[in-house]
Amino acid sequence: MSTSDQDKAGIFSPLMTEDAGGALPPASAGLPDVTALAQMANEFFRALPGQAGQFGGAQSAVTVPSMAPQFGATPSSILAVPSADKLPSEADLQRLSGGGASSYQPEVAAAPAPATSGPYFDQGLPRDRAQSLPTGDSSSPFAQSLPSFESPFPLFESVLPATAPLATFPTEDDVMAALNSVSSLYFLEDAGALSKPTTATAAPVSAASISPSLLPDLQLPRKQFDVGAVRRDFPILQERVHGKPLIWLDNAATTQKPQSVIDRISYFYEHENSNIHRAAHELAARATDAYEDAREKVARFINASSVKEVVFVRGATEAINLVAQSWGRRHIAKDDEIVISWIEHHANIVPWQMLAAETGARLRVAPVDDDGQILLDEFEKLLGPKTRLVSVTQVSNALGTITPVRQMVQMAHRYGARVLVDGAQAVSHLRTDVQALDCDFYVFSGHKVFGPTGIGVLYGKPDALADTPPWQGGGNMIVDVTFEKTIYHAPPARFEAGTGNIADAVGLGAAIDYVEQLGMENIARYEHDLLIYATKGLLTIPGLRLIGTAKEKASVLSFVLDGFRTEEVGAALNREGIAVRSGHHCAQPALRRFGVETSVRPSLALYNNDEDVDALITALRKLKSSGA
Ligand code: ALA
Repeated sequence: MSTSDQDKAGIFSPLMTEDAGGALPPASAGLPDVTALAQMANEFFRALPGQAGQFGGAQSAVTVPSMAPQFGATPSSILAVPSADKLPSEADLQRLSGGGASSYQPEVAAAPAPATSGPYFDQGLPRDRAQSLPTGDSSSPFAQSLPSFESPFPLFESVLPATAPLATFPTEDDVMAALNSVSSLYFLEDAGALSKPTTATAAPVSAASISPSLLPDLQLPRKQFDVGAVRRDFPILQERVHGKPLIWLDNAATTQKPQSVIDRISYFYEHENSNIHRAAHELAARATDAYEDAREKVARFINASSVKEVVFVRGATEAINLVAQSWGRRHIAKDDEIVISWIEHHANIVPWQMLAAETGARLRVAPVDDDGQILLDEFEKLLGPKTRLVSVTQVSNALGTITPVRQMVQMAHRYGARVLVDGAQAVSHLRTDVQALDCDFYVFSGHKVFGPTGIGVLYGKPDALADTPPWQGGGNMIVDVTFEKTIYHAPPARFEAGTGNIADAVGLGAAIDYVEQLGMENIARYEHDLLIYATKGLLTIPGLRLIGTAKEKASVLSFVLDGFRTEEVGAALNREGIAVRSGHHCAQPALRRFGVETSVRPSLALYNNDEDVDALITALRKLKSSGA
């Protein structure tokens, strides 16, 4: 049927041109190059007066350059959010209405205490944590004076002699016997020795066979990490819950936002808001500039080789679904195999199940040992000529295990499989380097790295993205549309149909600025010591069993407490102002591997400090002594 016939009939047989060859048409074709336009917009607005400013200030942990102006001299002390039990007085309100929010400095009952939460590495030396350990009775290991230490990596490297795994929960005697059997208490070789699961379903693996990737660099000079200043950058930490200062230990579920991110989003709506890539007016250019600037920040943050490899999506879950539904439908057929691990969260299980059910492919699951470490030998046995995709987490949300993703990528590539790495729980704790990992896809959510909800990233290698059909159709992702045929943009625009979450992409850029100013290595080093401190404290609580005791862990301290349901523990902690997640953590298979349906899950982030951990341990001791 000729075009004129179609026109007459008003009926078309669309020939959806997937990609115009996967690349943008040449400029001579007269079609817009969105990347070039964005770059031009960037240059134009950078040159404008009054567009450069800084967040941060004297009391801030970081100074984050931004297009937005400075909001007062010391923004991190300007908390226009009074604590719930300390509402502003009449005078406060007058000051507020007269001077604007930026001059309002409420007296907050939960003022930060820099003296006790101050520089973590003072003059290059870690402070003696024994000073801030919680005190129990005189026989408590906390009553002992502990040596200062230099924190080594990796986690749980150790001095504690092997302790026979216990079939049940440890008693106070077990705890004391184990702790008294060593001269130095700092590093527990096998934290899990005191809390082995009762249901062993896999053979133990030698620690030597686990070589985790992306460990912090030991050689880096120790910079000061001023956790007190970091805490002042997060206004929500001034909140009070049940009359107690909020202690946020639910970071694996979501992280809190620094003032610079909050301000950046406000600035966007106050000064830049427009749709992007579409209009010639000034605000369109500003918004496009801000959005594409955020893409550049993401590319730098994960070490992508180009901004074209960075697709904005709603979050890690949407990114995985995009790969499953779009790349997967094209490349995975009946009897093909998709390999995941036992410790994935539901977002890295269900999309593959759906794809397998639709295509007739098979899902294969790599087992983990009793510490929650992936059994690499078993993983390799699952790989073969039918393996099309490996999709694996970098850090387990339920257990905290850092998985050996680099080796897994290498193994999978030997079999010609693509690899997706789920970085949702990793990006706020470890430096991300997609080129070093050599993964084909990498996904993460903004809200787990101090950015907004509703924004996330799909990274794809250029050949992997070129091999991925569009997921959703609509505006922004097209070069040209007729009723007969549509020509799609090249990635990343091809995958960003419709109006995206522009402001929150910009907010994510500000969050990346924040963590980069602190330095991911500094963050990782700080959190590493805090995790050891917290692990050690938890292991002194009789009847507490850690779930997930990998030698390489980040952030997460999952546990069950003998005699208490996990929701009872969560509720008791909440009464003390301590927020943890209790439940299945959207990772039911992972917990069931350890014989439990639910656990209590404190999870740490860069603004947590010794005092937060001490409060947790104290509250658990109180609960334990009040109950069973
Ligand atoms: N996946 C998130 C968690 O681990 C929601 O809690």
